[in-house]
Amino acid sequence: MNTGTKNGDASLIRRLWPFARDVRLLLGAAAVLMVCEELLPFAGPHLLRKVIDHLEAGGDLGRIHQLALVFLSTIAGAALAGFLRAVAIENVSARIVHVLRTTLWKHVQSQGMSFFHKRPLGELMTRLNNDVDSVNRLLSEVVLDLSGSILMIVFGSTYMLLVDWRLALCCLAFLPPMLVVTHVFRVQVRDSNRDIRQKLSHLNTSLQENLSGSALVRIFGLEKRRIAEFATSNAGYRAAWYHNVSCYAYYFPVMNLLTELATALLFLVGTLLFMRDMASLGTLAAFSWTMGLFFRPLRELSDRITNLQQSLTAAERVFAVLDEATSVATSGDARFPGAPSGRVEFRDVTFGYDPAHPVVKNVSFTIEPGRTTALVGATGSGKSTLAALLSRFHDPQGGGILVDGIDLRDLERDERGRALGLVMQEPYLFPGSILENVTLGRDVPRERVGGLLREMRLGELLDGLPDGMDTPVGERGARLSTGQRQLLSFARALCQDPAVLVLDEATASIDSQSEEAIQEVTHRLLGERTTLVIAHRLATVRDADEILVLAHGEVRERGTHTGLLERQGLYARLWSLQAGMQAGN
Ligand SMILES: Nc1ncnc2c1ncn2[C@@H]1O[C@H](COP(=O)(O)OP(=O)(O)OP(=O)(O)O)[C@@H](O)[C@H]1O
Ligand SMILES: [Mg+2]
Repeated sequence: MNTGTKNGDASLIRRLWPFARDVRLLLGAAAVLMVCEELLPFAGPHLLRKVIDHLEAGGDLGRIHQLALVFLSTIAGAALAGFLRAVAIENVSARIVHVLRTTLWKHVQSQGMSFFHKRPLGELMTRLNNDVDSVNRLLSEVVLDLSGSILMIVFGSTYMLLVDWRLALCCLAFLPPMLVVTHVFRVQVRDSNRDIRQKLSHLNTSLQENLSGSALVRIFGLEKRRIAEFATSNAGYRAAWYHNVSCYAYYFPVMNLLTELATALLFLVGTLLFMRDMASLGTLAAFSWTMGLFFRPLRELSDRITNLQQSLTAAERVFAVLDEATSVATSGDARFPGAPSGRVEFRDVTFGYDPAHPVVKNVSFTIEPGRTTALVGATGSGKSTLAALLSRFHDPQGGGILVDGIDLRDLERDERGRALGLVMQEPYLFPGSILENVTLGRDVPRERVGGLLREMRLGELLDGLPDGMDTPVGERGARLSTGQRQLLSFARALCQDPAVLVLDEATASIDSQSEEAIQEVTHRLLGERTTLVIAHRLATVRDADEILVLAHGEVRERGTHTGLLERQGLYARLWSLQAGMQAGN
């Protein structure tokens, strides 16, 4: 992507434009109102000049009243324009941010899991929240404000030149040094802001690591070292802020000094001109007022350019996310003709998280409806990856996965959810209540959920909780034991009543007695259901209709338990090893 260059900035704004399409008229109205708001104040010095010159010429009070009235109406007009502009801009902002965030969210939702594995969650959060907010300000506030400031400077100079070019030059002589000071300041503040962001992100990372790893910190007695590390990040952040604040500390006094010098010069030259009858008293008064109007936007210029740069950087980051190609192609719109029967077919599936290094190679197998297939194999052999492919966390690079003869890629999103229930190796719980974690927002009667949880041997837990099923489970289910979390995700999968059940080490953390009970419950509730089960303890899968032995992403052996034992191969070795360990116990 084109980044950082002037060209890039322009193209960024062009890319943003479509997001403002619906609010073009409003944006236009805001621009017109801004022109009124910025230009009407110049009526003040102009009218004052007229009043003073009129008085000097010995004019009547009636004319003064008239001018005062005109002045009042310009003030009121500017205030009204300011108010309406603010309302219009808020409206524009709210709509742009809404469209942009929706677009970004849809894009993120359509990504495969690798998208989420690639970057820290905090970063994605920042993009969706803060960056979108900054981008939103780009079109609305930043561009308008900046044009407003520039407009005021141009108009102020023109007005002064028209009224009295000699006095105007006194004023304009200070423009170049002010612009230089502003430029230096802006560059320094920009670098300093970047520094602050970096230091803050260090600080946040350090905080997050220490909080989420607090158990590790305690176990290994790392408190002292962690405190020292945190102190370093904290000190770095403070220093960065200090530098930033000191930039402001010099900038405003210097700008003030230059403004005062300009005023002094104006008085000096003005008095000389007045004594020689080359300028009227009214002109002098008008000039001293106009100067105030002229220098104000100059001071604001630096802040506005900084805002512009920040927004552009944010826009760059947002578009970088949007430009990332989806690793999972969009879903098709195929639907099952009736209730899915649950026939699963892996057809020559090849997949690698990095396509150059496949972790699943040419895997083919079929599970007939109602049958159970087990996947066994060493740690890292690719079992969970196969489960993830079936849930379409990723799409295979070769071959395809079919449910009831329909390729997963052609299947409609909701249909896939209806057909597949997954209990993951690391059960994920949302920070909601137990009930919400089972139903996932679907409309399921409370009694059914309660019944399921009791069947899952969680009755005792529910009775002990203050609000029963409505008790929050804590961040990632922190308030439940590991086994309880697995039981809960089991209940979640059963509650969904899927045609195909995928169990990835679903009972690994559950005691043997409960495990047996769960198998009985599952069988009773779901009957003969297509099941893909992954297990390390071979005893739990010996009844499977087919067992696939995976090694380095390839199917090495397949067959029934007895058939595989007779082969005297990998499976038989694993079996005797585990049996030996059992006997040893
Ligand atoms: N998100 C990921 N990004 C990159 N590589 C991954 C990712 N997840 C797994 N892998 C790699 O893919 C291979 C297969 O992993 P997988 O999780 O499928 O193993 P597994 O058979 O389920 O192991 P276990 O028995 O320990 O659960 C491993 O070598 C692993 O390093
Ligand atoms: Mg696994």
